[in-house]
Amino acid sequence: MPIIIENLSYIYMQGTPFEKTALKDINLTINDGEFAGIIGHTGSGKSTLIQHFNGLLKPTSGRVLINGADTAGKNLKELRRHVGVVFQYPEHQLFDETVYKDIAFGLYKQKIPEEQIRSEIMRVIEAVGLDAGILEKSPFELSGGQKRRVAIAGVLVMKPEILILDEPTAGLDPKGRDEIFGNILKIHETLGITVILVSHSMEDIARLVNRVIVMNKGQIELDGTVAEVFADTQRLEAIGLSAPQVAYLMQGLKDFLPEIDDRAFTVAAARDELLRHLKGKVRKC
Ligand SMILES: Nc1ncnc2c1ncn2[C@@H]1O[C@H](COP(=O)(O)OP(=O)(O)OP(=O)(O)O)[C@@H](O)[C@H]1O
Ligand SMILES: [Mg+2]
Repeated sequence: MPIIIENLSYIYMQGTPFEKTALKDINLTINDGEFAGIIGHTGSGKSTLIQHFNGLLKPTSGRVLINGADTAGKNLKELRRHVGVVFQYPEHQLFDETVYKDIAFGLYKQKIPEEQIRSEIMRVIEAVGLDAGILEKSPFELSGGQKRRVAIAGVLVMKPEILILDEPTAGLDPKGRDEIFGNILKIHETLGITVILVSHSMEDIARLVNRVIVMNKGQIELDGTVAEVFADTQRLEAIGLSAPQVAYLMQGLKDFLPEIDDRAFTVAAARDELLRHLKGKVRKC
């Protein structure tokens, strides 16, 4: 179910004094099974872009094709079954009296038998790392991290082929963040679905995704592998972003240790590269 975007522009409140161009002539293809990260400073158009992927916003001009079908067409219900979006601060979307009913909401609308609903719910709560004991609680009794998981479960239960997460860990502590990202990685690996993650954290993007799309002022500034994008520190800095901090450490070390490979963008990769180098040195002694 590839996403193909052709010459997409989007203007909020067009024709009013508050008119705002949020996307300018975007061309982009995201293929099946990719794990893509979207970064860019605040207001660069990330959320506006992803809201086009499930037809929540319609292009002002250009086209968005999901599996060949134009989102400007009528069948939005069908489209939303295939493309699941977890919005920024998804806890604002939780409203039912129990966690169970909240996750089941989309399935109830499809008139699926209760037994099947229960087994689907058990499947997704495990995938997002929630305990069955939580199902009869009110969503409002939960911690911030648990609420996020419930929101993700409510999207996953629809078995989307494309899962889009807009800042899924904003405001969570490091442990909650790591746990949720661990679940998302596993979901990508085990289900093989396309995952698109919007994040402000370069560190998280570097260790999770295969492809990085950088937005700036409503346009795509850079698009490539983690190594390609984060090695271009000059271009990132020119638009007010930076590479993961460890990349600067490695670049600094390379001045003293020219033989190291400084293309390490996660702490784990940097550690491996430095250990490899040090072991070589010890062997020579
Ligand atoms: N509902 C709206 N009405 C008018 N303008 C909007 C609306 N939503 C967003 N904008 C404007 O469109 C531009 C892109 O906003 P968008 O929310 O897509 O950015 P973003 O990259 O998701 O930012 P953030 O990192 O803060 O979430 C911004 O200039 C924003 O002010
Ligand atoms: Mg946003």
